[in-house]
Amino acid sequence: MKFRGFSARTAFVRWGLAAVGIGIVLGGTAPSAIRLLGELLATHAGMVPWISSRLFGFIAYGVLAGSVVYGLLLSTKLLDVIAHRPITFTLHQDLASVGLGLAGIHGALLGLDRTVPTSLVQIAVPFATDYRPLWVGFGQLAFWIAAVVVASFYVRRRIGQRAWRVLHYATFLSFVGATAHGLGAGTDTAGWGWWIYLAATDLVVFLFVYRIAMSFRGRPRQAARAPVGRAAESPAA
Ligand code: HEM
Repeated sequence: MKFRGFSARTAFVRWGLAAVGIGIVLGGTAPSAIRLLGELLATHAGMVPWISSRLFGFIAYGVLAGSVVYGLLLSTKLLDVIAHRPITFTLHQDLASVGLGLAGIHGALLGLDRTVPTSLVQIAVPFATDYRPLWVGFGQLAFWIAAVVVASFYVRRRIGQRAWRVLHYATFLSFVGATAHGLGAGTDTAGWGWWIYLAATDLVVFLFVYRIAMSFRGRPRQAARAPVGRAAESPAA
């Protein structure tokens, strides 16, 4: 089944509902968020870069995991029912780029933290930090792999579909690296962070296995067609 788009006549209602939803969330949370931020700045100003870096780390992880999940939903064609393919592909690409940008901010903010001073070179070079170098290194590798994957979106025509696809599979390495990094380097792993890593990994593994099962299901049909072609070409036929 293919999605044929929403009716233009309901656009006003849809945008209206979105505006009301955003208004309710902002109205309900913004005042206390601003108050808490003010208190934090007044009492723990020196900790702001570190806390912000952790916050950006989780948002980056969520967006990157979302991009992987989105890609798997695209390749399993599960999204075709609810959205146009060119739009979903663009969204997948945008999520990956935004996730990469957020991960960059997450890493860069550590340069402003005075508790554990980290130079720009230590931030950029995998395994070069003084703080948990192995686990932080996995995150740095995840970042650079994601950077290559995002760059490949923009040179897809030039490098060809096959090379692009091979590069694209590296996304899974980036996801595994980012998960190991968060688990091993993160302060919040022992608390609620653990549940975020578990939920994201479960979803990715489930869709990955589903994708592989789908490709095996398609194979007998291809295999059944192949001998006919070969038999027709063989001298014995
Ligand atoms: C794809 C890239 C990355 C993702 C998705 C990511 C995500 C995360 C997450 C979710 C945490 C856990 C935060 C917490 O528990 O509070 C974390 C921690 C950390 N990340 Fe990253 N990260 C990435 C790349 C990097 C890079 C490039 C650096 C550069 C040095 C870095 C340095 C750190 C450090 C030092 C911590 C420990 C912070 C703490 O004390 O909790 N990460 N990261």
